[in-house]
Amino acid sequence: MSNKFKDLYKKSIENPEIFWQEASKDIFWFKEPTKILNKSNAPFYKWFEDGVTNTCYNALDIHIDQGNGKRTALIYDSPITGNKSKFTYEELKLKVSRFGGALKNQGVKKGDRVIIYMPMIPEAVIAMLACARIGAIHSVVFGGFASNELASRIDDSKAKILITASCGFEPGRTVEYKPLVDEAVKQATHKIDKMILFQRPNHEVKLNAPKEISWDEVVANAIEIDCVEMNSNDFAYILYTSGTTGTPKGIVRDIGGHIVALKWTMKNIYNINEGDIWWSASDIGWIVGHSYIVYAPLFKGCTTVLFEGKPVGTPDAGAFWKIISDYKVKSLFTAPTAFRAIKKEDPEGKFISKYDLSKFESLFLAGERADPDTIKWAENLLKVPVIDHWWQTETSWAISSNCTGIEMMKTKYGSACKAVPGYDVKIIKSDKTIAKPNEMGDIVVKLPLPPGTFPTLWNADKRYKENYMSNYEGYYQTYDAGHIDEDGYIWIMSRTDDIINVAGHRLSTGAIEEVLSEHQSVAECAVLGIADKLKGQLPIGLIVLKAGVEKDNETISRECIQMVRDKIGPVAAFKIAIVIKRLPKTRSGKILRGTIRKIADNVEYKMPPTIDDPLILDEIKDDLIKNNILKSV
Ligand code: COA
Ligand code: AMP
Repeated sequence: MSNKFKDLYKKSIENPEIFWQEASKDIFWFKEPTKILNKSNAPFYKWFEDGVTNTCYNALDIHIDQGNGKRTALIYDSPITGNKSKFTYEELKLKVSRFGGALKNQGVKKGDRVIIYMPMIPEAVIAMLACARIGAIHSVVFGGFASNELASRIDDSKAKILITASCGFEPGRTVEYKPLVDEAVKQATHKIDKMILFQRPNHEVKLNAPKEISWDEVVANAIEIDCVEMNSNDFAYILYTSGTTGTPKGIVRDIGGHIVALKWTMKNIYNINEGDIWWSASDIGWIVGHSYIVYAPLFKGCTTVLFEGKPVGTPDAGAFWKIISDYKVKSLFTAPTAFRAIKKEDPEGKFISKYDLSKFESLFLAGERADPDTIKWAENLLKVPVIDHWWQTETSWAISSNCTGIEMMKTKYGSACKAVPGYDVKIIKSDKTIAKPNEMGDIVVKLPLPPGTFPTLWNADKRYKENYMSNYEGYYQTYDAGHIDEDGYIWIMSRTDDIINVAGHRLSTGAIEEVLSEHQSVAECAVLGIADKLKGQLPIGLIVLKAGVEKDNETISRECIQMVRDKIGPVAAFKIAIVIKRLPKTRSGKILRGTIRKIADNVEYKMPPTIDDPLILDEIKDDLIKNNILKSV
């Protein structure tokens, strides 16, 4: 084994400024930065602060300047609707610069916020890039969120414009966006100026002029516009993610660091070169979609695939192999849950043999723990390396991975491999000392974080500092726990806050509890994520009723489930709410969620010494058995 990875990693940690200055030479700057890292106001670090650039220029124009305008930039494939299309870099630039002109005509200026609430269609990507072109800050909201969540994002971002579509398509169901948006706009205290709506073919909805305008109409009167010069530390986007309470956190991304880091990752982590065909089967509403459907592959000059479908059911468990074969995809990036879904439907991989996967070289998994069974299943059938890597919305790119473009490392099943150059990862124990190899603790990253990570939270510097940078002085707290072994491999074991991971979607149990508590019959409740073979985790709600409630338990459960669907959205996958007599608590009144979760998962647990009444645990066990959550043993 060579020392290539080791040497590069060492350089990135010992001389981050030199390391990232070199990487910054690979992107287009209107004005190259001379100041690489400003540490004067820690933990608010600034990368490339005097650099001037533009995200859209680096995603599109640069490739045309370099003579690659005829290369395919985007392939859209929608097995749900049967639609397919391709856009070269030149064609995409034309559409983006026209839509940028349209936004400008609607009064959108540099720094204004634009909410994008759209399905997986090219117009969503065009809208994101058009914002970048004119210096507006986009905030994409995942289509599986309900009006309430959309309203809170409108309010927090104080968006000027909201861009949406007439509908999205889920297997067996049309998602009508307009009523959801109307409700959100009504609920939000902040009032948007305009709604731009893309009418999907054969699914047009009525618009109320002048506030609601169709995409075609705004584009018809627009002229193409050029990229605006942006300061490196201006914000590219806000992406809201679950926090420990119901109020989502607005993760922001600054422009220069984002371009430099993401472009660097394509070769170094994923071994992807210009012109390669790359596919990230995620959704543009999530960080993986932002970074690896849209930005990184376009910065690198690749062809990126936008897939409006599911791993199973659109139409079958061969959907992924069809895309890989049809477009000669070199690497795929998705969540383990997608592969578990395929494995469940097609355990022997019969669909795989129907397609030509000869151009396929590697599979990357992230978003949740990749179980060794699924990794081995995929390796055996696909005959390519399957790489588990670990990252977060906060960082926008992998903290740990097998860096296949630098040096291929051996796989240790269950580990997300080693820290990527730029990240000095440590484990800190409960006594606040650094752990030795194999000792468990909180996973932290020594500050400063590398470029492309979040420089702050939207309008919430204090929350950024207190939440992430204060528990361990000089470190970023990831809220993941685990250990690092003697070879430097990182093992992610669990979250240390109330965040759960449902089918690769990040959810806050606290936010679901807030919704349940609003039910008039609910006195108190606990929501926890229990292990699920397909989705990794599933939320279940345990509900204690107020005295004297006359409604039957089944009705109350049904109403609670509906409330979560209405207030958070179908993505919460909240389908189990059980009425119980009492919740186990400590003597000081803290609900013992961890212990309940262990009982539900049927794993060993210790009786908490501070428990108020140990008998409650037996009651809970009986309730879980009665509701088929736990098998009777
Ligand atoms: N718009 C509206 N609703 C959506 C949606 C969207 N964009 N995405 C999901 N939903 C809905 C689903 O239709 C489902 O609704 P239902 O309760 O009416 O059935 C609900 O949200 C739960 O969705 P999900 O948890 O995704 O379950 P599923 O059974 O529909 O699909 C998988 C399961 C594994 C196929 C799917 O979760 C998947 O492909 N996951 C990959 C995850 C991913 O890309 N993560 C990003 C990080 S890499
Ligand atoms: P998100 O911000 O939605 O990307 O979710 C980030 C969280 O997902 C992390 O903090 C982890 O808890 C989890 N996660 C992401 N990737 C992995 C992985 N490879 N292994 C284990 N957990 C992961």
